[in-house]
Amino acid sequence: MKFIKVENYNKLSRQAANIISAQIIMKPNSVLGLATGSSPIGTYKQLIKWYNKGDVDFSEVTSVNLDEYVGLDGNNNQSYRYFMDTYFFNHINIKKENTYVPNGKSEDLAKEGEEYDARLKSFGGIDLQLLGIGLDGHIGFNEPDKCFEKSTHIVNLHSSTIEANSRFFDSIEDVPKQAITMGMVSIMQAKKILLIANGKAKEEILKKAFSGPITPEIPASILQLHPDVTVIYSEE
Ligand code: F6R
Repeated sequence: MKFIKVENYNKLSRQAANIISAQIIMKPNSVLGLATGSSPIGTYKQLIKWYNKGDVDFSEVTSVNLDEYVGLDGNNNQSYRYFMDTYFFNHINIKKENTYVPNGKSEDLAKEGEEYDARLKSFGGIDLQLLGIGLDGHIGFNEPDKCFEKSTHIVNLHSSTIEANSRFFDSIEDVPKQAITMGMVSIMQAKKILLIANGKAKEEILKKAFSGPITPEIPASILQLHPDVTVIYSEE
């Protein structure tokens, strides 16, 4: 496990973007596992800049996102599909048909999960998985629990997650209470993992996740078992 401490969000974003572009340069048809939330926005911005300069080419890249809110379709501006299009995909040359976000509007969410996992398997898994971390230690929307969930599944979001995410909504009542998220198998089978965490508020959970016991009560702690994890964090 490699920890990189940087001074601020800008440097965090550049470092993360560096690792992602190196991955694409080394393997142009990489499968990238992507995240939403506030942490990766700067990384996506930096990648867009380098794309515009001609330094990185996404034409052969496939992306699979970690999660989506249940009940929101891609046109809803709070959905993670909308987020990815707005902050990243609309500004680079990735083929939209090669970008996957779970369908939170599916009538059969269990089937959606199975198909998501099967599709991922057919791609040969994820080459590089980008992760943020929730204040309760969630990765994707794998919330603290009694066991680690293996496959893509539906979760009831914890009140702390609903509260944390309410900053993106008009009111806390508008935050969906459920999400569909990739499970631990797909995440742990990624060849490389890059976790980014910004700000003092994340310090405590980072310590628990990476220096404490491996427990489903702190979902990110499972990453201690992964052979190739890089954590970039800033205390700003
Ligand atoms: C979102 C996701 C979540 C976030 C986490 C941190 O796709 O997977 O696990 O990474 O909630 O969110 P931010 O970056 O907003 O602090």
